[in-house]
Amino acid sequence: MKFFIDTADVKEIREAAAMGLVDGVTTNPSLVAKSGRKFRDVLLEICDIVKGPVSAEVVTLKHDEMMKEARELSALRPNIVVKIPLIPEGLKAVRTCAEEGIKTNVTLCFSATQALLAAKAGANYISPFVGRLDDISTDGMQLIGEIVQIYDNYDFKTEVLVASVRHPMHCQQAALMGAHVMTAPYSVLMQLSKHPLTDIGLSKFLEDWKKVPQ
Ligand code: E4P
Repeated sequence: MKFFIDTADVKEIREAAAMGLVDGVTTNPSLVAKSGRKFRDVLLEICDIVKGPVSAEVVTLKHDEMMKEARELSALRPNIVVKIPLIPEGLKAVRTCAEEGIKTNVTLCFSATQALLAAKAGANYISPFVGRLDDISTDGMQLIGEIVQIYDNYDFKTEVLVASVRHPMHCQQAALMGAHVMTAPYSVLMQLSKHPLTDIGLSKFLEDWKKVPQ
């Protein structure tokens, strides 16, 4: 399973990349706003750090406007993937992007039928938001299982990108279900390596090492 980091903070990206945890990056308008930087500046800096796919989201709602944004964004760097919302106009844009060879990540997916439509439109990635489903008492990871099965049934090439990941169990379940990618905030990526027995064991080893004649 590929690991993407869900952030527009270049410091976090550098840190996680140094640990080999960044196969790609996802951003969204909220994350870019949080960075306090201009979209284009931050996007180009991210692409200088990461050679894998970097998702950059459109902020218009009509096909033609989205296509203008998609063409501009994808022309910036070859690894930019255009993030498009799962609305009818967005699906049209995904289809046009596929025809033009522009890579897409369809975002704000909350149902299996939405994911089916994105695949049929030719999306490269589908981003089901598991955490936001959990927030409204709906099993986000169940949706991942359904999408993986549907895509397998029909051999769709669209990759399942588990998004809105909130904790390590989301990551573990995504891997068990065979999702292609998961994108997580820096804080969750850091939690993945944590285990109290690792810390206890390390303390003991270091303590015992002091008894070894030097
Ligand atoms: C995915 O691409 C989104 O940027 C992200 O995962 C949304 O996560 P959130 O629900 O924690 O905002």
